[in-house]
Amino acid sequence: MPATGPTAFIDRAAAALRLGGLVAFPTETVYGLGADALNPLAVAAVFALKGRPAHNPLIVHVTGPDMARQLAAEWPPWADTLARAFWPGPLTIVLPASPRVPHAVRAGGPTVALRAPAHPTAEALLAAFGGPLVGPSANPSGFVSPTTAEHVRAGFPDAVAHGDLLVLDGGPCRSGIESTVVAMTPDATLRVLRPGVIGPSELAAVLGLPADRVVFSLQHADAGAPASVCTPLASPGQLASHYAPRAPAVLVTRDQWPTLLASLPADRRRSVALLARGPWPESGAARQITLPDEPGGFAAGLYAALRELDALAPTLITIEAPPAPPPAGSPPAGTGSRDADLWRAIADRLARATSTQPRSRP
Ligand code: TXA
Ligand code: MG
Repeated sequence: MPATGPTAFIDRAAAALRLGGLVAFPTETVYGLGADALNPLAVAAVFALKGRPAHNPLIVHVTGPDMARQLAAEWPPWADTLARAFWPGPLTIVLPASPRVPHAVRAGGPTVALRAPAHPTAEALLAAFGGPLVGPSANPSGFVSPTTAEHVRAGFPDAVAHGDLLVLDGGPCRSGIESTVVAMTPDATLRVLRPGVIGPSELAAVLGLPADRVVFSLQHADAGAPASVCTPLASPGQLASHYAPRAPAVLVTRDQWPTLLASLPADRRRSVALLARGPWPESGAARQITLPDEPGGFAAGLYAALRELDALAPTLITIEAPPAPPPAGSPPAGTGSRDADLWRAIADRLARATSTQPRSRP
């Protein structure tokens, strides 16, 4: 009798990957679009399905430091320290790549981005496949990342219907925003290329670096500029129009809200949507979603909420602005700084969700 249950799904998915197929899998951050990282044709299929620009490199998912070392040209002590502290978990480490890593994965650049995800399904899939998997977020390029299997299916209905994409359902993702991406410069400064769940205070503490040796490097990527650990680093996830819903979206404070509503013609006012941080009684918005006013809960619900509001095709999605960062030079200690770091990562995603031009609906 053929095996059924989760193990059978994982085995089937690993077999599909071995044949160069695509498998979407849950991680603790968002769902990834998995393919054999060492098979250039499978990697090409990922770029094609996502509509991802060829100059945007892919994250490679590994089981842990042992597999990661096979893909990097060097495995310096700082990388080992970070991997041991945060893997499996939402930290992506950029290192000089081994020649084994196909050019397409690194978008022609000299580096590779590595991460071991912390999710039982992702870990079981990597173990069953026995090798590294590319795993960009499983959404059409530039759109909001998926935090449920349903989001993935909605993004690629044809590929799913034709059996070209298997989707492993692991329920909603716990963290809800993508991993922190880091690289070290030759002068021993850790650059955060994409802020995420793991913040600069935690990274500095684990590495024993002074706080000013962990810096944000969030400049927008130039098309074709390879990411490198030697030059100012570009992380193409920092393209302005990433993580964006189709409806226009703006950040708004509670103080600004009445003015904003009053400035809209009556017919437009009726279809404004609102994503609030904590209770916001009688906003007057056509549709309101309230997320917890606490960064963990807010991040976990953010992408699903944006998708839900976007599906209503509102004239405008208004998003309550995240709390202002603490004043520079006086970082709060302990949990306070973790919360501030996570709000900063959320603010980064919100800036991108609200910086794009409205797009046409398919
Ligand atoms: O949480 C995550 O990281 C999710 C889950 C599925 O693991 N994956 C994800 O992948 O967000 P993706 O491809 O959507 O974002 C990868 C980010 C992009 O900002 C990309 O530019 C950057 O990592 N990246 C990939 N390779 C890089 C490299 N060699 N150097 C610098 N940045 C790189
Ligand atoms: Mg993405």
